[in-house]
Amino acid sequence: MLLKTVPILVLVTHVLALKNGLMQTPPMGWLAWERFRCNIDCKEDPKNCISEQLFMEMADRLAEDGWRDLGYTYLNIDDCWIGERDERGNLVADPRRFPNGIAHLADYAHSLGLKLGIYADLGNFTCMGFPGTTLDRVVQDAKTFAKWKVDMLKLDGCYSTPLERAVGYPKMAAALNATGHPIAFSCSWPAYEGGLPPTVNYTLLADICNLWRNYDDIQDSWSSVLSILDWFVEYQDILQPVAGPGHWNDPDMLLVGNFGLSFEEAQSQMALWTVLAAPLFMSTDLRTISAKDMGILQNPLMIKIHQDPLGIQGRRIVKEKSQIEVFLRPLSQKASALVFFSRRTDMPYHYSTSLKWLNFTSASVYEAQNVYTGEIISDLHIKTKFTVTINPSGVVMWYLYPIHYETEAMDRT
Ligand code: GLA
Repeated sequence: MLLKTVPILVLVTHVLALKNGLMQTPPMGWLAWERFRCNIDCKEDPKNCISEQLFMEMADRLAEDGWRDLGYTYLNIDDCWIGERDERGNLVADPRRFPNGIAHLADYAHSLGLKLGIYADLGNFTCMGFPGTTLDRVVQDAKTFAKWKVDMLKLDGCYSTPLERAVGYPKMAAALNATGHPIAFSCSWPAYEGGLPPTVNYTLLADICNLWRNYDDIQDSWSSVLSILDWFVEYQDILQPVAGPGHWNDPDMLLVGNFGLSFEEAQSQMALWTVLAAPLFMSTDLRTISAKDMGILQNPLMIKIHQDPLGIQGRRIVKEKSQIEVFLRPLSQKASALVFFSRRTDMPYHYSTSLKWLNFTSASVYEAQNVYTGEIISDLHIKTKFTVTINPSGVVMWYLYPIHYETEAMDRT
């Protein structure tokens, strides 16, 4: 019996694997949901409603204000774009809000060197009640998205059963593959199954999805960021190894530029998402964003770390009684990103430590660059005591790299 089932399973996995070669580093871009939600009242709020105009204006900002050139290339539509299905059952965008249709928007994005992402839901309805992509529509909708030259699909899971998701997500991966048009695939599947094995099979997900939402929706508050971070840290032994080039955990959008985070908290979210090798999807109004928030999101060293070719997700390596935590992401060329994060709520804290305490063992001299201030910290041996001053709910982030190997370093006391 067993002998008969194994080859079938192998065959199924082989056929279903998503082989688009996309997202070898975590994706970057803009996604409408967290900031613009399901505002469809274009009469009352023409500048902010979910419409072709909103996406074209964001496309212009991405192209003209430096975002695209730094790597923020995805322009992603979320829920509430659908009008109905036509007489052939094909999805059609709401004709009042998207008078030129999605293909036009995709062309516009491409003309600016951007990519267009779209949203669908593997169920009877999307989470906001628009027509869903039931199992019998999966192939049809994949073809529609490919015809429109869409570059990414976020497939949500509202109004679906566990069984429908178990069939539907692999089916969509195969259907996207079969279109021949490269479409990155974002799966909300694990978020609907509690995010953990054995219910969630991360090996299968890595095979069929380029990224996946593991956990709750982010909301515009620091408590929401912390609850997501806590969950990702609690289960880092499960989640960290499953991420890698082409397949990423997604703790949800960046809130930077919105209303709920202080400046320190915004810097923290950016730094933590970067060490977690998370997708960096901004969801903010790029027409009005402040220079300070742009500075957080457009930090070139931060982005270099985020886009490191090894694509290793970082981990929390130290949790101190003082409510200081240290996160580390290994990078190429023996470099590391270190984030010293304070959960304190009193005042700037002077945290003293050494690379040895942070589990560094190599006999070399290191130098670090503070990612937010640019300051260089040189001549760091593993036993050198150093102090970083971390603001409440804030971070100090270092890009740390070896300068040269010191053979006698092991003998140092
Ligand atoms: C779900 C998703 C969100 C967003 C909304 C849209 O809640 O998790 O990211 O797409 O649906 O309705």
